[in-house]
Amino acid sequence: MFFPHLRLRRARQSPWIREILQEVSLRPADLIYPIFIRDDHIAPSIPGLGANRRYTLKELPALIREVSSLGIKAVALFPMVDKSKRDETGSYACNPEGLIPQAISIIKKTTDQLGVITDVALDPYTSHGQDGLVKKGEILNDETVAALQQMSIVLAQAGSDIVAPSDMMDGRIGAIREALDSKKFSNTMILAYTAKYASSLYGPFREAVGSKGCLGVADKKTYQMSPDRRKEALLEANQDAREGADFLMVKPATLYQDIIQNLTLTQKLPVFGYHVSGEYAMLISAHEAGFLDFGAALIETLTSIKRAGAQAILTYGACEAARILNT
Ligand code: PBG
Repeated sequence: MFFPHLRLRRARQSPWIREILQEVSLRPADLIYPIFIRDDHIAPSIPGLGANRRYTLKELPALIREVSSLGIKAVALFPMVDKSKRDETGSYACNPEGLIPQAISIIKKTTDQLGVITDVALDPYTSHGQDGLVKKGEILNDETVAALQQMSIVLAQAGSDIVAPSDMMDGRIGAIREALDSKKFSNTMILAYTAKYASSLYGPFREAVGSKGCLGVADKKTYQMSPDRRKEALLEANQDAREGADFLMVKPATLYQDIIQNLTLTQKLPVFGYHVSGEYAMLISAHEAGFLDFGAALIETLTSIKRAGAQAILTYGACEAARILNT
């Protein structure tokens, strides 16, 4: 059938028919809120991330109650620790009394309604800002994986429901699964940063965890993926799935929706998307400049990520989006 018999605008003429025909609907439960936690004397503000800031352990319970009341079901934790706690090997990552283990236990005491996701990578703790161990400029794979196994056990022990390796070392999912199981943490879930690209959109995050200055002009291109490659994401996904990941993640989400769709169509595991700091900052700054409406643009962005196939979305706009969705 062709025009004039076919008129696609017929099905767009009123709100009620448009609502009936809605295919993708965004829920607060689709959103995961990343939270930055700081040592007491570190400044709270994070340039570029709007209302997001760094919280002290003391401030956590109130925040957590607020997040949970919005219908959000999980938070992802990232630390900014004092520079004096950083060293060559990121040893503070494995400290059972570290900032993140303490934060987990505070959250768990505050509510049992919220899942806790913790990042497994060394960059908030290394003096050089890399996610792994470095020797003569090389990021060591297997040695890093051993450290990440340790770190995962510490996080699981502290009560983390999901550990999320964001480091992109080879073989880390299987190794972490094995380490967790060996310590009887077989219920701890693994969210694999499966397709994490060496993106230019991580700037505000690196500022937020304090790794930007440490990293200097260095990049992460020997372990994060090149933005000009597609099929490599499938290799990563196959590998993570085989090694025991519970969920796969694509990062950044907005600019890599083709990858989200690809993995959704080819993999059986749920695929998450990470709407990263630079993507969020673009919305904030365009709004501040008067070029768009932040709320509308945020909901549209998150809906598009879900439309691409994402099961859940990590976003700094989780609370703002949930408030809009709840009204
Ligand atoms: C580091 C990590 C990064 C992000 C999450 N975990 C930054 C990086 O790889 O340098 C980025 C998140 C964001 O930009 O919002 N392991």
